[in-house]
Amino acid sequence: MNIKNIIIKEINNSLKKNNIYKKYNYNIKNNDKYSDYQIYSFINISKKENINIYKIINIFIKKIKKYKIFKKINIIKPGIINIYIKKKELEKIINIKSKIKNLGIKNKKKNKVIIDYSSPNISKEMHIGHLRSTILGDCICKISRLLGNKVIKMNHIGDWGTNFGMIITLIKEKKININKCNIKKLENIYKKSQYIFSKNKNFAKKCRLNTLKLQNNNKYIINIWKKITNITILENQKIYKKLNIKLHKKNIFGESFYKNKLKYIVKDLVKKKIALKDNKTIIIKNKKKNFNIIIKKKDGAYLYSTIDLACIKYRYKKYKINKIIYLTDIRQKEYMKNIFIIAKKAKYIPKKIKLIHYYFGNILNKYKKPFKTKEGNNIKLKKIIKKTIKYIKKIMYKKYKNEYNKQKIYRISKKISIAAIKYMDLSKKRTKNYIFNIRKILSLKNNTGPYIQYSYIRIISLLKKNNTNITKCIKNNKFYIYNKLEFKISKEILNFEEIIKKSYKNGTTHEICKYLYNLCIYFSKIYELKNITNIKNIKYKKSKLKLISIMGKIIRISLNILGIPILKIM
Ligand code: ARG
Repeated sequence: MNIKNIIIKEINNSLKKNNIYKKYNYNIKNNDKYSDYQIYSFINISKKENINIYKIINIFIKKIKKYKIFKKINIIKPGIINIYIKKKELEKIINIKSKIKNLGIKNKKKNKVIIDYSSPNISKEMHIGHLRSTILGDCICKISRLLGNKVIKMNHIGDWGTNFGMIITLIKEKKININKCNIKKLENIYKKSQYIFSKNKNFAKKCRLNTLKLQNNNKYIINIWKKITNITILENQKIYKKLNIKLHKKNIFGESFYKNKLKYIVKDLVKKKIALKDNKTIIIKNKKKNFNIIIKKKDGAYLYSTIDLACIKYRYKKYKINKIIYLTDIRQKEYMKNIFIIAKKAKYIPKKIKLIHYYFGNILNKYKKPFKTKEGNNIKLKKIIKKTIKYIKKIMYKKYKNEYNKQKIYRISKKISIAAIKYMDLSKKRTKNYIFNIRKILSLKNNTGPYIQYSYIRIISLLKKNNTNITKCIKNNKFYIYNKLEFKISKEILNFEEIIKKSYKNGTTHEICKYLYNLCIYFSKIYELKNITNIKNIKYKKSKLKLISIMGKIIRISLNILGIPILKIM
Protein backbone atom coordinates (compact mmCIF):
# COMPACT_ATOMS: atom_id res chain seq x y z
CA MET A 1 0.00 0.00 0.00
CA ASN A 2 1.21 3.42 -0.92
CA ILE A 3 -0.55 6.04 1.20
CA LYS A 4 0.41 8.94 -1.01
CA ASN A 5 -1.07 7.11 -3.98
CA ILE A 6 -4.33 6.62 -2.12
CA ILE A 7 -4.48 10.32 -1.40
CA ILE A 8 -3.67 11.21 -5.01
CA LYS A 9 -6.28 8.77 -6.29
CA GLU A 10 -8.95 10.29 -4.09
CA ILE A 11 -8.03 13.86 -4.98
CA ASN A 12 -8.40 12.84 -8.62
CA ASN A 13 -11.78 11.27 -7.90
CA SER A 14 -13.09 14.31 -6.10
CA LEU A 15 -11.95 16.56 -8.94
CA LYS A 16 -13.62 14.33 -11.51
CA LYS A 17 -16.85 14.47 -9.54
CA ASN A 18 -16.65 18.22 -10.01
CA ASN A 19 -15.95 17.84 -13.72
CA ILE A 20 -12.34 18.90 -13.41
CA TYR A 21 -10.09 16.84 -15.67
CA LYS A 22 -7.05 19.06 -15.94
CA LYS A 23 -3.83 17.64 -14.47
CA TYR A 24 -2.48 19.42 -11.41
CA ASN A 25 0.65 18.93 -9.39
CA TYR A 26 -0.52 17.94 -5.92
CA ASN A 27 1.45 19.38 -3.13
CA ILE A 28 1.34 16.59 -0.55
CA LYS A 29 3.78 16.80 2.35
CA ASN A 30 4.45 14.26 4.98
CA ASN A 31 5.45 16.71 7.57
CA ASP A 32 5.56 15.39 11.10
CA LYS A 33 5.22 18.74 12.75
CA TYR A 34 1.53 19.12 12.04
CA SER A 35 0.17 15.84 10.81
CA ASP A 36 1.12 12.76 8.83
CA TYR A 37 0.08 14.07 5.43
CA GLN A 38 -0.68 17.60 4.44
CA ILE A 39 -2.44 18.72 1.27
CA TYR A 40 -2.20 22.30 0.08
CA SER A 41 -3.37 21.89 -3.51
CA PHE A 42 -7.09 22.44 -3.07
CA ILE A 43 -6.62 26.17 -2.57
CA ASN A 44 -4.81 26.59 -5.86
CA ILE A 45 -7.11 24.29 -7.80
CA SER A 46 -10.30 25.93 -6.61
CA LYS A 47 -8.92 29.35 -7.54
CA LYS A 48 -7.83 28.24 -10.99
CA GLU A 49 -11.07 26.39 -11.68
CA ASN A 50 -13.17 29.09 -10.09
CA ILE A 51 -15.08 26.64 -7.93
CA ASN A 52 -16.05 26.68 -4.25
CA ILE A 53 -13.21 24.89 -2.45
CA TYR A 54 -15.56 22.97 -0.14
CA LYS A 55 -17.25 21.33 -3.10
CA ILE A 56 -14.02 19.48 -3.72
CA ILE A 57 -12.89 19.07 -0.14
CA ASN A 58 -16.15 17.54 1.11
CA ILE A 59 -16.14 14.82 -1.50
CA PHE A 60 -12.47 14.15 -0.82
CA ILE A 61 -13.01 13.76 2.91
CA LYS A 62 -15.96 11.45 2.41
CA LYS A 63 -13.84 9.22 0.22
CA ILE A 64 -10.78 9.26 2.47
CA LYS A 65 -12.84 8.31 5.54
CA LYS A 66 -13.56 4.94 3.95
CA TYR A 67 -9.98 3.83 4.46
CA LYS A 68 -9.10 2.14 7.72
CA ILE A 69 -5.58 3.50 7.74
CA PHE A 70 -6.66 7.11 8.35
CA LYS A 71 -7.45 8.17 11.90
CA LYS A 72 -8.67 11.71 11.52
CA ILE A 73 -8.80 14.52 9.05
CA ASN A 74 -9.05 18.21 9.74
CA ILE A 75 -9.28 21.30 7.63
CA ILE A 76 -7.41 24.49 8.29
CA LYS A 77 -8.63 27.65 6.65
CA PRO A 78 -8.43 28.54 3.79
CA GLY A 79 -8.34 24.88 2.78
CA ILE A 80 -5.26 23.05 3.98
CA ILE A 81 -6.02 19.46 4.89
CA ASN A 82 -4.29 17.50 7.62
CA ILE A 83 -4.52 13.73 7.57
CA TYR A 84 -3.47 11.51 10.46
CA ILE A 85 -2.85 7.80 10.21
CA LYS A 86 -3.65 5.06 12.72
CA LYS A 87 -0.66 3.56 14.45
CA LYS A 88 -2.22 0.10 14.66
CA GLU A 89 -2.96 0.05 10.94
CA LEU A 90 0.53 1.24 10.10
CA GLU A 91 2.00 -1.55 12.22
CA LYS A 92 -0.20 -4.06 10.48
CA ILE A 93 0.83 -2.95 7.02
CA ILE A 94 4.53 -2.97 7.92
CA ASN A 95 4.28 -6.45 9.42
CA ILE A 96 2.59 -7.83 6.31
CA LYS A 97 4.56 -5.92 3.71
CA SER A 98 7.99 -6.65 5.09
CA LYS A 99 7.53 -10.38 4.50
CA ILE A 100 6.89 -10.03 0.77
CA LYS A 101 9.74 -10.30 -1.72
CA ASN A 102 11.11 -6.82 -2.45
CA LEU A 103 8.38 -5.51 -0.13
CA GLY A 104 5.92 -6.15 -2.92
CA ILE A 105 7.27 -3.41 -5.15
CA LYS A 106 6.15 -4.09 -8.69
CA ASN A 107 4.34 -2.23 -11.42
CA LYS A 108 0.94 -3.53 -12.36
CA LYS A 109 1.79 -3.29 -16.03
CA LYS A 110 4.83 -5.17 -17.25
CA ASN A 111 6.66 -3.30 -19.96
CA LYS A 112 9.34 -4.28 -22.40
CA VAL A 113 12.13 -1.75 -22.34
CA ILE A 114 15.35 -1.23 -24.28
CA ILE A 115 18.05 0.57 -22.35
CA ASP A 116 20.82 2.04 -24.52
CA TYR A 117 23.79 2.80 -22.31
CA SER A 118 27.57 2.92 -21.93
CA SER A 119 28.06 2.93 -25.72
CA PRO A 120 31.73 3.97 -25.94
CA ASN A 121 33.45 4.61 -29.24
CA ILE A 122 35.89 2.14 -30.71
CA SER A 123 39.65 2.65 -30.79
CA LYS A 124 39.69 4.63 -27.58
CA GLU A 125 40.09 3.58 -23.99
CA MET A 126 37.01 4.19 -21.87
CA HIS A 127 37.43 7.46 -20.04
CA ILE A 128 35.64 9.43 -17.38
CA GLY A 129 33.06 10.55 -19.93
CA HIS A 130 31.72 7.00 -20.08
CA LEU A 131 31.44 6.53 -16.36
CA ARG A 132 28.04 8.11 -15.95
CA SER A 133 26.34 6.44 -18.89
CA THR A 134 27.65 3.07 -17.73
CA ILE A 135 26.82 3.38 -14.03
CA LEU A 136 23.50 5.21 -14.35
CA GLY A 137 22.42 2.95 -17.21
CA ASP A 138 23.15 -0.20 -15.30
CA CYS A 139 21.21 1.05 -12.30
CA ILE A 140 18.21 2.06 -14.42
CA CYS A 141 18.22 -1.49 -15.86
CA LYS A 142 18.14 -2.93 -12.37
CA ILE A 143 15.30 -0.69 -11.17
CA SER A 144 13.34 -1.49 -14.29
CA ARG A 145 13.73 -5.21 -13.65
CA LEU A 146 12.78 -4.84 -10.01
CA LEU A 147 9.55 -3.21 -11.14
CA GLY A 148 8.82 -6.31 -13.19
CA ASN A 149 9.74 -5.09 -16.66
CA LYS A 150 11.53 -7.07 -19.31
CA VAL A 151 14.79 -5.26 -19.96
CA ILE A 152 16.86 -5.51 -23.11
CA LYS A 153 20.30 -3.96 -22.66
CA MET A 154 21.98 -2.48 -25.68
CA ASN A 155 25.51 -1.23 -25.91
CA HIS A 156 25.41 1.02 -28.97
CA ILE A 157 29.17 1.19 -29.45
CA GLY A 158 30.53 3.65 -31.99
CA ASP A 159 32.06 1.17 -34.40
CA TRP A 160 31.21 2.76 -37.76
CA GLY A 161 31.95 6.00 -39.54
CA THR A 162 34.59 8.55 -40.47
CA ASN A 163 37.01 7.90 -37.64
CA PHE A 164 37.63 4.42 -39.01
CA GLY A 165 38.54 5.87 -42.37
CA MET A 166 41.22 7.90 -40.60
CA ILE A 167 42.63 5.06 -38.54
CA ILE A 168 42.67 2.61 -41.40
CA THR A 169 44.37 5.10 -43.71
CA LEU A 170 47.20 5.68 -41.24
CA ILE A 171 47.56 1.96 -40.60
CA LYS A 172 47.88 1.40 -44.33
CA GLU A 173 50.26 4.31 -44.95
CA LYS A 174 52.58 3.48 -42.09
CA LYS A 175 52.27 -0.27 -42.63
CA ILE A 176 51.42 -0.76 -38.96
CA ASN A 177 50.98 -4.35 -37.84
CA ILE A 178 47.51 -4.27 -36.32
CA ASN A 179 47.99 -7.69 -34.73
CA LYS A 180 50.59 -6.16 -32.44
CA CYS A 181 48.44 -3.22 -31.34
CA ASN A 182 47.00 -2.78 -27.91
CA ILE A 183 44.36 -0.22 -26.98
CA LYS A 184 46.92 2.44 -26.05
CA LYS A 185 48.64 2.19 -29.40
CA LEU A 186 45.32 2.20 -31.18
CA GLU A 187 44.28 5.37 -29.46
CA ASN A 188 47.56 6.98 -30.45
CA ILE A 189 47.04 5.99 -34.06
CA TYR A 190 43.57 7.48 -33.91
CA LYS A 191 44.79 10.77 -32.51
CA LYS A 192 47.63 11.01 -34.97
CA SER A 193 45.34 10.28 -37.88
CA GLN A 194 42.90 12.92 -36.67
CA TYR A 195 45.73 15.43 -36.62
CA ILE A 196 46.98 14.59 -40.10
CA PHE A 197 43.39 14.60 -41.36
CA SER A 198 42.99 18.19 -40.28
CA LYS A 199 46.30 19.32 -41.83
CA ASN A 200 46.72 17.29 -45.00
CA LYS A 201 44.09 17.47 -47.70
CA ASN A 202 45.43 14.52 -49.61
CA PHE A 203 45.33 12.33 -46.50
CA ALA A 204 41.81 13.51 -45.71
CA LYS A 205 40.68 12.52 -49.18
CA LYS A 206 42.09 9.05 -48.69
CA CYS A 207 40.34 8.80 -45.33
CA ARG A 208 36.99 9.59 -46.86
CA LEU A 209 37.61 7.03 -49.54
CA ASN A 210 38.46 4.39 -46.98
CA THR A 211 35.35 5.22 -44.96
CA LEU A 212 33.30 4.64 -48.07
CA LYS A 213 35.15 1.43 -48.78
CA LEU A 214 34.36 0.27 -45.25
CA GLN A 215 30.71 1.19 -45.70
CA ASN A 216 30.72 -0.76 -48.97
CA ASN A 217 32.11 -3.88 -47.35
CA ASN A 218 35.58 -3.88 -48.87
CA LYS A 219 37.11 -7.12 -47.61
CA TYR A 220 40.59 -5.85 -46.75
CA ILE A 221 39.27 -2.81 -44.93
CA ILE A 222 36.61 -4.80 -43.09
CA ASN A 223 39.33 -7.10 -41.86
CA ILE A 224 41.31 -4.27 -40.25
CA TRP A 225 38.10 -2.82 -38.85
CA LYS A 226 37.23 -6.12 -37.19
CA LYS A 227 40.61 -6.27 -35.50
CA ILE A 228 40.37 -2.71 -34.21
CA THR A 229 36.90 -3.37 -32.89
CA ASN A 230 37.90 -6.56 -31.14
CA ILE A 231 40.88 -4.97 -29.39
CA THR A 232 38.62 -2.24 -27.99
CA ILE A 233 35.74 -4.49 -26.99
CA LEU A 234 38.08 -6.81 -25.13
CA GLU A 235 39.43 -3.85 -23.18
CA ASN A 236 35.99 -2.42 -22.41
CA GLN A 237 34.75 -5.75 -21.11
CA LYS A 238 37.60 -5.68 -18.59
CA ILE A 239 36.38 -2.33 -17.29
CA TYR A 240 32.80 -3.58 -16.94
CA LYS A 241 34.08 -6.53 -14.98
CA LYS A 242 36.08 -4.27 -12.68
CA LEU A 243 33.01 -2.17 -11.98
CA ASN A 244 30.75 -5.19 -11.60
CA ILE A 245 28.65 -4.02 -14.53
CA LYS A 246 26.69 -6.78 -16.21
CA LEU A 247 27.07 -5.66 -19.78
CA HIS A 248 28.24 -8.50 -21.98
CA LYS A 249 29.36 -9.06 -25.53
CA LYS A 250 25.89 -10.28 -26.36
CA ASN A 251 24.56 -6.84 -25.40
CA ILE A 252 26.62 -5.14 -28.10
CA PHE A 253 24.47 -3.79 -30.89
CA GLY A 254 26.93 -1.27 -32.25
CA GLU A 255 26.47 1.26 -35.00
CA SER A 256 27.76 -1.23 -37.58
CA PHE A 257 24.86 -3.54 -36.77
CA TYR A 258 22.62 -1.25 -38.81
CA LYS A 259 24.95 -0.77 -41.79
CA ASN A 260 22.81 -2.59 -44.33
CA LYS A 261 19.70 -0.68 -43.40
CA LEU A 262 21.01 2.84 -43.97
CA LYS A 263 20.45 2.98 -47.72
CA TYR A 264 16.78 2.11 -47.26
CA ILE A 265 16.28 4.56 -44.45
CA VAL A 266 17.54 7.43 -46.58
CA LYS A 267 15.41 6.36 -49.54
CA ASP A 268 12.37 5.98 -47.33
CA LEU A 269 12.76 9.35 -45.69
CA VAL A 270 13.14 11.04 -49.08
CA LYS A 271 10.06 9.18 -50.34
CA LYS A 272 8.08 10.31 -47.32
CA LYS A 273 9.24 13.87 -48.02
CA ILE A 274 10.79 14.08 -44.58
CA ALA A 275 14.30 14.35 -46.06
CA LEU A 276 15.31 16.23 -49.18
CA LYS A 277 18.25 16.50 -51.54
CA ASP A 278 20.27 19.67 -51.14
CA ASN A 279 23.04 19.63 -53.77
CA LYS A 280 24.30 16.14 -53.18
CA THR A 281 23.61 16.09 -49.49
CA ILE A 282 20.47 14.51 -48.06
CA ILE A 283 19.12 16.50 -45.23
CA ILE A 284 16.13 16.68 -42.91
CA LYS A 285 14.97 20.24 -42.37
CA ASN A 286 12.37 20.99 -39.76
CA LYS A 287 11.36 24.62 -39.85
CA LYS A 288 8.81 24.35 -37.07
CA LYS A 289 11.29 22.90 -34.62
CA ASN A 290 14.19 24.74 -36.18
CA PHE A 291 16.67 21.97 -36.88
CA ASN A 292 18.63 20.52 -39.79
CA ILE A 293 20.00 17.01 -39.66
CA ILE A 294 22.14 15.54 -42.43
CA ILE A 295 21.59 11.84 -43.07
CA LYS A 296 23.82 11.36 -46.11
CA LYS A 297 26.91 13.35 -46.95
CA LYS A 298 27.69 14.48 -50.45
CA ASP A 299 30.44 11.88 -50.76
CA GLY A 300 27.86 9.18 -50.03
CA ALA A 301 28.77 8.48 -46.38
CA TYR A 302 26.09 7.90 -43.78
CA LEU A 303 26.11 9.46 -40.33
CA TYR A 304 25.44 8.89 -36.66
CA SER A 305 21.93 10.24 -37.21
CA THR A 306 21.14 7.86 -40.10
CA ILE A 307 22.16 5.00 -37.86
CA ASP A 308 20.02 6.18 -34.95
CA LEU A 309 16.95 6.37 -37.18
CA ALA A 310 17.57 2.89 -38.58
CA CYS A 311 18.17 1.73 -35.05
CA ILE A 312 14.84 2.98 -33.68
CA LYS A 313 13.01 1.36 -36.60
CA TYR A 314 14.77 -1.94 -36.01
CA ARG A 315 14.28 -1.87 -32.26
CA TYR A 316 10.56 -1.39 -32.51
CA LYS A 317 10.01 -3.81 -35.35
CA LYS A 318 12.04 -6.58 -33.78
CA TYR A 319 11.19 -6.23 -30.10
CA LYS A 320 7.86 -4.39 -29.97
CA ILE A 321 9.06 -2.52 -26.91
CA ASN A 322 6.99 -0.03 -24.90
CA LYS A 323 9.90 2.22 -24.16
CA ILE A 324 13.49 3.02 -25.12
CA ILE A 325 15.75 4.81 -22.67
CA TYR A 326 18.99 6.44 -23.84
CA LEU A 327 21.82 7.53 -21.58
CA THR A 328 24.28 10.02 -23.00
CA ASP A 329 25.73 13.29 -21.85
CA ILE A 330 23.85 16.56 -22.05
CA ARG A 331 25.48 17.61 -25.32
CA GLN A 332 23.20 15.24 -27.20
CA LYS A 333 20.03 16.64 -25.66
CA GLU A 334 18.80 18.53 -28.73
CA TYR A 335 20.03 15.88 -31.13
CA MET A 336 18.10 13.10 -29.39
CA LYS A 337 14.97 15.20 -29.17
CA ASN A 338 15.09 15.81 -32.91
CA ILE A 339 15.82 12.20 -33.79
CA PHE A 340 12.78 11.14 -31.75
CA ILE A 341 10.61 13.63 -33.63
CA ILE A 342 11.80 12.32 -36.99
CA ALA A 343 11.41 8.65 -36.03
CA LYS A 344 7.81 9.24 -34.99
CA LYS A 345 7.01 11.35 -38.02
CA ALA A 346 8.38 8.59 -40.26
CA LYS A 347 6.27 6.09 -38.31
CA TYR A 348 9.30 3.98 -37.42
CA ILE A 349 7.82 3.77 -33.97
CA PRO A 350 4.26 4.58 -32.85
CA LYS A 351 3.60 7.92 -31.19
CA LYS A 352 2.56 6.32 -27.91
CA ILE A 353 5.85 4.49 -27.41
CA LYS A 354 8.05 6.42 -25.05
CA LEU A 355 11.47 7.50 -26.26
CA ILE A 356 13.31 8.83 -23.28
CA HIS A 357 16.67 10.52 -23.05
CA TYR A 358 18.24 10.59 -19.61
CA TYR A 359 21.05 13.02 -20.26
CA PHE A 360 23.65 13.86 -17.66
CA GLY A 361 26.19 16.53 -16.73
CA ASN A 362 29.98 16.32 -16.61
CA ILE A 363 32.40 15.15 -13.96
CA LEU A 364 34.78 17.96 -13.07
CA ASN A 365 38.17 18.17 -11.37
CA LYS A 366 38.81 20.19 -8.22
CA TYR A 367 39.28 23.34 -10.31
CA LYS A 368 35.77 22.81 -11.65
CA LYS A 369 37.14 22.03 -15.09
CA PRO A 370 36.43 18.88 -17.15
CA PHE A 371 38.59 16.01 -15.98
CA LYS A 372 41.68 15.85 -18.18
CA THR A 373 45.19 14.48 -17.91
CA LYS A 374 48.20 16.81 -18.05
CA GLU A 375 48.32 16.32 -21.80
CA GLY A 376 44.72 17.42 -22.07
CA ASN A 377 43.24 13.98 -22.63
CA ASN A 378 40.21 12.70 -20.81
CA ILE A 379 41.26 10.73 -17.77
CA LYS A 380 40.92 6.95 -18.21
CA LEU A 381 38.42 4.92 -16.24
CA LYS A 382 41.05 2.30 -15.58
CA LYS A 383 43.16 4.91 -13.85
CA ILE A 384 40.33 6.17 -11.66
CA ILE A 385 39.46 2.66 -10.52
CA LYS A 386 43.10 1.84 -9.85
CA LYS A 387 43.67 5.04 -7.91
CA THR A 388 40.61 4.50 -5.74
CA ILE A 389 41.52 0.91 -4.92
CA LYS A 390 45.08 1.93 -4.05
CA TYR A 391 43.84 4.63 -1.73
CA ILE A 392 41.44 2.34 0.10
CA LYS A 393 43.91 -0.51 0.26
CA LYS A 394 46.30 1.66 2.21
CA ILE A 395 43.64 2.49 4.81
CA MET A 396 42.45 -1.11 5.02
CA TYR A 397 45.95 -2.42 5.34
CA LYS A 398 46.64 -0.26 8.35
CA LYS A 399 43.41 -1.43 9.96
CA TYR A 400 43.59 -5.13 9.20
CA LYS A 401 47.22 -6.04 8.61
CA ASN A 402 47.30 -8.27 11.66
CA GLU A 403 44.01 -9.97 10.95
CA TYR A 404 43.83 -10.63 7.22
CA ASN A 405 46.22 -11.50 4.46
CA LYS A 406 46.97 -9.12 1.61
CA GLN A 407 44.67 -10.85 -0.85
CA LYS A 408 41.69 -10.55 1.41
CA ILE A 409 42.41 -6.90 2.04
CA TYR A 410 42.65 -6.33 -1.69
CA ARG A 411 39.31 -8.07 -2.29
CA ILE A 412 37.58 -5.93 0.31
CA SER A 413 39.20 -2.77 -1.02
CA LYS A 414 37.97 -3.54 -4.50
CA LYS A 415 34.38 -3.86 -3.29
CA ILE A 416 34.58 -0.64 -1.32
CA SER A 417 36.00 1.13 -4.37
CA ILE A 418 33.12 0.01 -6.56
CA ALA A 419 30.71 1.29 -3.93
CA ALA A 420 32.51 4.61 -3.65
CA ILE A 421 32.70 5.25 -7.39
CA LYS A 422 29.19 4.11 -8.24
CA TYR A 423 27.52 5.83 -5.34
CA MET A 424 29.36 9.05 -6.11
CA ASP A 425 27.68 9.07 -9.48
CA LEU A 426 24.28 7.71 -8.56
CA SER A 427 23.84 10.08 -5.64
CA LYS A 428 24.33 13.21 -7.74
CA LYS A 429 21.56 15.01 -9.56
CA ARG A 430 21.77 13.52 -13.03
CA THR A 431 21.52 16.70 -15.06
CA LYS A 432 24.13 18.60 -13.06
CA ASN A 433 27.92 18.61 -13.25
CA TYR A 434 29.78 17.40 -10.19
CA ILE A 435 33.28 17.51 -8.79
CA PHE A 436 35.25 14.30 -8.31
CA ASN A 437 36.85 14.24 -4.88
CA ILE A 438 38.34 10.95 -3.76
CA ARG A 439 38.42 11.84 -0.04
CA LYS A 440 34.75 12.73 -0.04
CA ILE A 441 33.52 9.60 -1.76
CA LEU A 442 35.26 7.41 0.79
CA SER A 443 33.96 9.04 3.92
CA LEU A 444 32.40 6.72 6.45
CA LYS A 445 30.19 9.43 7.87
CA ASN A 446 28.55 11.18 4.96
CA ASN A 447 26.31 10.23 2.08
CA THR A 448 28.73 7.79 0.44
CA GLY A 449 28.69 4.23 -0.83
CA PRO A 450 31.07 2.95 1.85
CA TYR A 451 28.90 4.50 4.57
CA ILE A 452 25.86 2.58 3.31
CA GLN A 453 27.92 -0.62 3.09
CA TYR A 454 29.11 -0.03 6.62
CA SER A 455 25.59 0.56 7.97
CA TYR A 456 24.46 -2.71 6.48
CA ILE A 457 27.33 -4.54 8.16
CA ARG A 458 26.35 -2.98 11.49
CA ILE A 459 22.78 -4.21 11.07
CA ILE A 460 23.89 -7.73 10.22
CA SER A 461 26.28 -7.95 13.14
CA LEU A 462 23.73 -6.58 15.59
CA LEU A 463 21.26 -9.25 14.50
CA LYS A 464 23.95 -11.88 14.70
CA LYS A 465 24.78 -10.85 18.22
CA ASN A 466 21.15 -11.55 19.04
CA ASN A 467 21.24 -14.93 17.35
CA THR A 468 19.08 -13.95 14.40
CA ASN A 469 19.20 -12.64 10.85
CA ILE A 470 17.05 -10.50 8.55
CA THR A 471 14.91 -13.28 7.10
CA LYS A 472 14.35 -15.10 10.38
CA CYS A 473 13.59 -11.97 12.30
CA ILE A 474 11.09 -10.65 9.76
CA LYS A 475 9.38 -14.02 9.65
CA ASN A 476 9.13 -14.69 13.39
CA ASN A 477 8.97 -11.38 15.21
CA LYS A 478 6.14 -8.92 15.45
CA PHE A 479 6.71 -5.23 15.09
CA TYR A 480 4.95 -2.61 17.25
CA ILE A 481 5.45 1.12 17.09
CA TYR A 482 6.72 2.27 20.49
CA ASN A 483 7.61 5.90 19.96
CA LYS A 484 7.62 8.89 17.64
CA LEU A 485 10.88 7.93 15.99
CA GLU A 486 9.59 4.47 15.14
CA PHE A 487 6.39 5.97 13.80
CA LYS A 488 8.44 8.20 11.55
CA ILE A 489 10.58 5.32 10.36
CA SER A 490 7.48 3.25 9.64
CA LYS A 491 6.13 5.92 7.37
CA GLU A 492 9.51 6.14 5.72
CA ILE A 493 9.44 2.39 5.09
CA LEU A 494 6.11 2.77 3.31
CA ASN A 495 7.66 5.51 1.19
CA PHE A 496 10.24 3.17 -0.30
CA GLU A 497 8.00 2.05 -3.12
CA GLU A 498 7.20 5.56 -4.17
CA ILE A 499 10.87 6.53 -4.16
CA ILE A 500 11.79 3.62 -6.40
CA LYS A 501 9.00 4.30 -8.86
CA LYS A 502 9.71 8.00 -8.96
CA SER A 503 13.40 7.55 -9.53
CA TYR A 504 12.68 5.19 -12.42
CA LYS A 505 10.16 7.51 -13.98
CA ASN A 506 12.48 10.50 -13.84
CA GLY A 507 15.85 8.79 -14.04
CA THR A 508 16.76 10.25 -10.67
CA THR A 509 18.81 7.65 -8.86
CA HIS A 510 19.95 10.30 -6.39
CA GLU A 511 16.54 10.09 -4.77
CA ILE A 512 17.14 6.45 -3.89
CA CYS A 513 20.53 7.39 -2.44
CA LYS A 514 19.07 10.22 -0.41
CA TYR A 515 16.40 7.92 0.95
CA LEU A 516 18.95 5.25 1.74
CA TYR A 517 21.23 7.65 3.55
CA ASN A 518 18.33 8.86 5.63
CA LEU A 519 17.37 5.32 6.53
CA CYS A 520 20.93 4.62 7.67
CA ILE A 521 20.84 7.71 9.85
CA TYR A 522 17.60 6.49 11.40
CA PHE A 523 19.25 3.17 12.10
CA SER A 524 22.16 4.94 13.77
CA LYS A 525 19.72 6.83 15.96
CA ILE A 526 17.99 3.65 17.11
CA TYR A 527 21.32 2.00 17.64
CA GLU A 528 22.76 4.79 19.71
CA LEU A 529 19.61 5.42 21.73
CA LYS A 530 19.50 2.07 23.42
CA ASN A 531 21.63 -0.99 23.78
CA ILE A 532 19.19 -3.33 22.08
CA THR A 533 20.99 -6.51 23.08
CA ASN A 534 20.42 -5.67 26.76
CA ILE A 535 16.69 -4.94 26.56
CA LYS A 536 14.85 -7.12 29.08
CA ASN A 537 11.30 -6.87 27.76
CA ILE A 538 11.24 -9.62 25.12
CA LYS A 539 8.30 -8.27 23.15
CA TYR A 540 9.92 -4.85 22.95
CA LYS A 541 13.30 -6.25 21.99
CA LYS A 542 11.86 -8.51 19.30
CA SER A 543 9.92 -5.63 17.84
CA LYS A 544 13.01 -3.45 17.69
CA LEU A 545 15.06 -6.19 16.05
CA LYS A 546 12.33 -6.63 13.48
CA LEU A 547 12.32 -2.93 12.65
CA ILE A 548 16.06 -3.06 12.16
CA SER A 549 15.72 -6.16 9.99
CA ILE A 550 13.21 -4.42 7.75
CA MET A 551 15.58 -1.49 7.38
CA GLY A 552 18.32 -3.98 6.57
CA LYS A 553 16.13 -5.59 3.95
CA ILE A 554 15.47 -2.25 2.30
CA ILE A 555 19.17 -1.37 2.34
CA ARG A 556 19.98 -4.73 0.77
CA ILE A 557 17.39 -4.29 -2.00
CA SER A 558 18.69 -0.81 -2.65
CA LEU A 559 22.35 -1.80 -2.74
CA ASN A 560 21.41 -4.49 -5.23
CA ILE A 561 19.71 -2.08 -7.57
CA LEU A 562 22.50 0.44 -7.24
CA GLY A 563 24.94 -2.30 -8.23
CA ILE A 564 26.93 -1.96 -5.01
CA PRO A 565 28.51 -5.08 -3.50
CA ILE A 566 27.49 -6.14 -0.01
CA LEU A 567 30.33 -6.74 2.44
CA LYS A 568 30.64 -8.79 5.60
CA ILE A 569 33.48 -6.77 7.07
CA MET A 570 35.16 -3.48 6.38
N1 ARG B 1 28.72 6.49 -28.88
C1 ARG B 1 27.99 7.64 -28.47
C2 ARG B 1 28.92 8.58 -27.70
O1 ARG B 1 29.99 8.18 -27.27
C3 ARG B 1 26.78 7.33 -27.60
C4 ARG B 1 25.71 6.49 -28.25
C5 ARG B 1 24.39 6.61 -27.60
N2 ARG B 1 23.37 5.83 -28.22
C6 ARG B 1 22.76 6.11 -29.37
N3 ARG B 1 21.87 5.29 -29.82
N4 ARG B 1 23.04 7.20 -30.05
O2 ARG B 1 28.57 9.73 -27.52
